[in-house]
Amino acid sequence: MAIERITAKEAALRIKHNDQVGFSGFTHAGCPKIVPLEIAKLAQEEHEKGNPFEIAVFTGASTGDNIDGALARANAIKFRTPYQTNNDIRNEINKGVVSYFDLHLSSLAQDLRYGFYGDIDVAVIEASDVTEDGKIIPTSGVGIAPTIVRMAKLVIVELNSWHPKELRGIHDLLDLQDPPYRKEIPITNVKSRIGKDYIQVDSAKIVIVETNVPNDGGGFAPVDDITSRIGKNTADFLVNEVRRGTIPKKFLPIQSGVGNIANAVLAAMGDNKDIPNFEVYTEVIQDAIIDLLEKGRITYASGGTLTVSNPYIERIYKNLPFFKERIVLRTSEISNNPEVIRRLGIISMNTAIEADIFGNINSTHITGSKIMNGLGGSGDFTRNAYLSIFLTPSTAKNGDISAIVPMVSHVDHNEHSVKVIITEHGVADLRGKSPKERAVCVIENCSHPDYRPLLYKYLESGAKGQTPVNLQNAFAFHNTFIKTGSMKNTCIS
Ligand code: COA
Repeated sequence: MAIERITAKEAALRIKHNDQVGFSGFTHAGCPKIVPLEIAKLAQEEHEKGNPFEIAVFTGASTGDNIDGALARANAIKFRTPYQTNNDIRNEINKGVVSYFDLHLSSLAQDLRYGFYGDIDVAVIEASDVTEDGKIIPTSGVGIAPTIVRMAKLVIVELNSWHPKELRGIHDLLDLQDPPYRKEIPITNVKSRIGKDYIQVDSAKIVIVETNVPNDGGGFAPVDDITSRIGKNTADFLVNEVRRGTIPKKFLPIQSGVGNIANAVLAAMGDNKDIPNFEVYTEVIQDAIIDLLEKGRITYASGGTLTVSNPYIERIYKNLPFFKERIVLRTSEISNNPEVIRRLGIISMNTAIEADIFGNINSTHITGSKIMNGLGGSGDFTRNAYLSIFLTPSTAKNGDISAIVPMVSHVDHNEHSVKVIITEHGVADLRGKSPKERAVCVIENCSHPDYRPLLYKYLESGAKGQTPVNLQNAFAFHNTFIKTGSMKNTCIS
């Protein structure tokens, strides 16, 4: 029997209050576009009738506005994991309306299969193609699609003809076994292919909603003075490591985080003639990676998603055979897999909100309490990297905030996992240093000159012992910012 075709509205009506709903995709890429909007409308209609309507939302990472934005504005989300970047849902989370569980991205699919978070009632999957025998071909991002499809009672496939059917073959999708019987994941190099190029599902569970809607990929900010200096410092540091022999001459695969800084750092690496052509094993493939693939500076990119701006995705689709030879898209469970990251010896580069003088990193919270986005894949990579690097401008908010503080207001990555911190002022190499030595190294090389005397004063006021923390003053920078709007007025007692 042919798979049933229905409208987006009809699909939304199959979702009930309290359902646990999984969506495909990773960032805006690969996310369904029209069914979530209909779920948001349905929620609003139910609320107007005085009925409750809220769902739990599980995804690979952040989403397009059509999921996190539209559903949050319709008060339709009661639980959200593992990552978000949308202003509207962020506000609801920080108000305490949406319950948000911030989780390593590599863990979600397996934790769902282990039953930690209950069942998946419905999976909504964007596809570039679907066959009558239940083979689903994802689009530009995969996320947790194979797991939610396997677990869901109903699979709504948004068949989006904006994506070419010829995408088939770019994905590598493995059905992981679960402990105690999981075998090794046989990825031995960046290009390894170990799975299928489709997701198999019982076609009796599928309904199809046809659509033709573009991605909502915005652009990246142009490289400015600060990001270009961070990029140059990073590239120079890596060149020096190759010269010292701590990075092999052939180089190692690079993971780079999300956002403008990561994009700028990759561009700087591409421009630096002393860095050999390199490979990427990462979660997010951004615009800079596409430029460097075209130039031949990046020879292969393994990722979970094409999080590129729309002119770039159009470029990829126009030249698909070229890119299919140079890109593989995997599930987040594999793109961020600790076992694979250790095996391949990856150099990880992620962005921090703040770093402390001892090397702890806050990637997620503003002044300790307000979530920005979430941990994302930064922990998956940092803890398992060959060399873990954190990047940040030395100040935020026009200099009123020092990104280098005595103690981070929230810990995502601790001093035991963080090897290098880089700002526009320089590089703090923390390897082999005691906490006191690390503190001097971070203050001297990474902090903004305006904050350096204050940070030294803090260090001098510190308690004795292995780690000179002064509990009285540890959060003096943050407290002063909250009271006066600037950390510059901090008084160390
Ligand atoms: N205190 C207060 N606000 C700060 C701050 C600090 N120490 N540091 C940055 N900010 C603010 C910025 O001012 C900016 O605010 P705005 O949106 O109002 O302009 C915002 O945080 C984002 O900072 P920005 O400098 O634009 O950096 P970004 O877009 O590169 O994002 C992170 C930085 C850390 C938020 C982002 O990289 C992230 O979410 N990381 C966690 C997930 C991750 O690492 N994923 C990659 C794994 S593969």
